[in-house]
Amino acid sequence: MYNSRFAGLGYYVPENVVTNDDLSKVMDTSDEWIQERTGIKERRHVIKGEETTMTMGVKAAEQAIERSGLDKDEIDFIVFATLSPDYYFPGPGVMVQKELGLKRTVGALDVRNQCSGFVYAVSVADQYIKTGMYKNILVIGSETHSPGLDFTTRGRGVSVIFGDGAGAAVLTREEDNSKGILSTHLHSEGEHAEELALIAPGMGRHWVTDIIKNNDPEETSYWPYMNGQFVFKNAVVRFSEVIMEGLKTNELSPADIDMLIPHQANLRISQFIQGKFKLSDDQVHNNIMKYGNTTAASIPIALTEAWELGKVKEGDLVVLAAFGSGFTWGSVIIRW
Ligand code: UT7
Repeated sequence: MYNSRFAGLGYYVPENVVTNDDLSKVMDTSDEWIQERTGIKERRHVIKGEETTMTMGVKAAEQAIERSGLDKDEIDFIVFATLSPDYYFPGPGVMVQKELGLKRTVGALDVRNQCSGFVYAVSVADQYIKTGMYKNILVIGSETHSPGLDFTTRGRGVSVIFGDGAGAAVLTREEDNSKGILSTHLHSEGEHAEELALIAPGMGRHWVTDIIKNNDPEETSYWPYMNGQFVFKNAVVRFSEVIMEGLKTNELSPADIDMLIPHQANLRISQFIQGKFKLSDDQVHNNIMKYGNTTAASIPIALTEAWELGKVKEGDLVVLAAFGSGFTWGSVIIRW
């Protein structure tokens, strides 16, 4: 069995900055409320027609491939995590393959695990590399939330939180088993599927044909719903559990962590985890202040930023952890 390691990282966010004050002009909210409850100061929104989940994913991927030192023809497989694909189907994995001009028939897999999407995608890629099936895998997390959010006061509990952006990584085979990804841990609890969900358009109870036919402005099933406090309470518990699970599997303890990259759901959640594991400010990288919650893109964006800042160095123990809709959650333990 091989290990896999991060050979290259990249990210891309749209230039269009939307501040809390900008949002307070279109709904009943305030900079004070948003910062106090979430830590967010601003987020990025795509400009319609200019950027999409796929195009941002391509930009992040180009940077990751270039930094990996690999030729794009050496990419064996693509795993693309998103909850906001350009098309209902096919997913953006195949579109990235075409746009990047990767080898004509490399496989592409789309992952639907929302905020845990990147952690799930990395875990999938790691298994393929471990078994020797593939050697170099492009993993992307990219999201375009802004076109699908309710920017009226009705939607303020959700729409102020999410932002657009993309991050990517190239995972490659590592022959030294003490280096690279040491383990990944994935969980879900489908019992709470509807606590954070976008129900329509779907082929279940909310048929697209009915929504179009009824054209009802009060129809809310096509706006994301979140039971915020319930999600928050579950997040702090599951984040802690799954980080500990990963550490214990590798006979490590919180004191061994050099860098924690938590999914950027809420600064208060990250700060709670930081306090619980007694980590200093420079052992946790947060950027939710600038980008909001970019779901599957948040970890690869934050990891790339931390790496660019020299906060992730060879030999460091790096922990990725996420929790989100599903509920799904997971962690990745890496010896960089
Ligand atoms: O990434 C996936 C996982 N997601 C998460 O982990 C998110 C977890 N949850 C949270 O981060 C928090 O629950 C939120 C930030 C979403 C909400 O914060 P909260 O402290 O739980 O607020 P709340 O939902 O209990 O709402 C408190 C009040 C309500 O008013 P009343 O009923 O007390 O009068 C809301 O209507 O704040 C109101 N409110 C707002 N006020 C101003 C909700 N959204 C806003 C807003 N601006 N944007």
